[in-house]
Amino acid sequence: MKNIMKVKDVSKKIKRRTIIDNMSFEINEGQICGFIGPNGAGKTTMIRLLTGLIKPNEGEILINGIDVTKNRKEALMNIGAIVEAPIFFNYMTGKEILNNLVRLHPNIPKKERESRVEEVLKIVDLDKRCQDKVSTYSLGMKQRLGIAQALLGNPEIIILDEPANGLDPIGMKDLREIILKLNREYNITFLVSSHLLDELQKICTSFVIINEGVLKFKGTSEELLSIDKGNIEDIFIKILKGQEASA
Ligand SMILES: Nc1ncnc2c1ncn2[C@@H]1O[C@H](COP(=O)(O)OP(=O)(O)O)[C@@H](O)[C@H]1O
Ligand SMILES: [Mg+2]
Repeated sequence: MKNIMKVKDVSKKIKRRTIIDNMSFEINEGQICGFIGPNGAGKTTMIRLLTGLIKPNEGEILINGIDVTKNRKEALMNIGAIVEAPIFFNYMTGKEILNNLVRLHPNIPKKERESRVEEVLKIVDLDKRCQDKVSTYSLGMKQRLGIAQALLGNPEIIILDEPANGLDPIGMKDLREIILKLNREYNITFLVSSHLLDELQKICTSFVIINEGVLKFKGTSEELLSIDKGNIEDIFIKILKGQEASA
């Protein structure tokens, strides 16, 4: 199975405090990997490391075998990432925003820009609302526009940082369906963070669980569920409280 992302012995200190402590995990092609940990666990910091926004003090991050720290531009070619909740200009329409962003992709020829924008709008089910100003969009629609933005460059992997935050049940369901569709029909690998295990448990095929900058679990969803016969909440608490990271 192809490794899309490999995190090897990565540590990150911010102001002399260790935020990420010697973490190692892999994401394989085709996975929907849940990146789970309580608030303050280090998820956003790790995602910022993965996308080369900050550099590790120790260790290595490889994307398709390319070192992000040494060769950021090349490594990130295959990544669509939404690190923060996407912020768009409210006075613009969804389509106008994507029309501007598609120009930033040098490998999309000029004459294909328009069709590419229409294609991604359709994939995230915003084609009917694309002429409306973003100010009229729900949070879920803004998230989907963010995913459309990430899709423009035809990424192999999409990283979403807490996309479920603030979504209502319907927004959550739409988000899950889009992730599943992109995974199954377009073979896009996902890393999706959340502070709630049960939020993502329905769609994730693998999990990386961290707490206070330390890896607590990595494995498939079957391996996770086999930890305890109890409910998913019990499993989460058990992992956070002490169970050592399994191989
Ligand atoms: N730029 C920064 N300066 C100081 N502390 C930071 C900075 N970024 C993150 N931290 C600290 O690192 C820890 C992990 O934060 P973060 O990665 O945002 O966690 P999560 O995304 O899992 O909620 C927190 O204790 C946070 O306060
Ligand atoms: Mg965060």
